[in-house]
Amino acid sequence: MNVKLIETIQEMLRFTKDAKHRNLSIGYVPTMGALHEGHVSLMKAAVAQNDIAVMTIFVNPIQFGPNEDYEKYPRTLEADLEKAEAAGILAVFFPSAHELTENIYSFVDINELQNNLCGVKRPGHFRGVCTIVSKFFNIIQPDNAYFGKKDIQQLYIIKQMVKDLNFPVNIVPCEIVRESDGLAMSSRNRYLSANERKDALIISQSIKKAITLQQNGETSPQIIINCVREEIAKVPSAKIDYISIVNEQMQDVDTVENKNILALAVYIGKTRLIDNHIIGEKLCF
Ligand code: PAJ
Repeated sequence: MNVKLIETIQEMLRFTKDAKHRNLSIGYVPTMGALHEGHVSLMKAAVAQNDIAVMTIFVNPIQFGPNEDYEKYPRTLEADLEKAEAAGILAVFFPSAHELTENIYSFVDINELQNNLCGVKRPGHFRGVCTIVSKFFNIIQPDNAYFGKKDIQQLYIIKQMVKDLNFPVNIVPCEIVRESDGLAMSSRNRYLSANERKDALIISQSIKKAITLQQNGETSPQIIINCVREEIAKVPSAKIDYISIVNEQMQDVDTVENKNILALAVYIGKTRLIDNHIIGEKLCF
């Protein structure tokens, strides 16, 4: 295999230094592994738009709550390396939690943007994300970093963090990649039984129905949200965590307009899945 597996911070720093010395632009894709076509689309963009592309595979303990799925999160390094190689990634940084997150005393936190949606439902989650992404930015010093719109609040938070803390990196947002039936790809889809997989379709279907309503002129967030709610209620295994329509500051809106985001988190059985749609963008599922 040509892809280089790097497991220590020291070795990754050496790699970065060498790339900088050779004036190569660095594209970077942060992931937690269990890679799917969503990740691959980010990897391909990073490869296409930079001299070299690197990724991280790290199931980050500090972004999981105590009752969340840190232990059972899928870990599939061999298959991931094959996907990285096929996409043209040059190096995969795969550090240990021991070296990266144990005994750290400094954290990066963000206020306003985490006071809604997943930020409220998963306390401490974005603090963990911002901290680990900051560490990776410092170690890898990328010119461009690639984030999916699938995790829309994460994308806006990272953009704000980069602006606030003057990280010299350009954040590149990437479209949500879906299965052919519309389900947004996610590493957590692996948790679904065959029946739950069918039930999970209600998430994208309810978005589609609500957005059609909006496209036909509906501007009331409550009416659009209720449309989603009623659809999801038809599936007994589905339990709503939240459905919201927010602006780019992640605040609930009174009237729905372009660039607002319809965002939802839904449990299918025990598996929590998220999805969203940016108002005004093309519905392509
Ligand atoms: P992870 O869930 O592995 O996702 C890594 C990146 O892939 C994120 O930017 C996410 O938005 C993107 N992604 C996931 N599913 C996608 C899909 N269906 N279409 C397009 N992009 C998709 O997000 C994380 O990891 C972590 O929080 C991380 C940023 C790595 C920090 O630990």
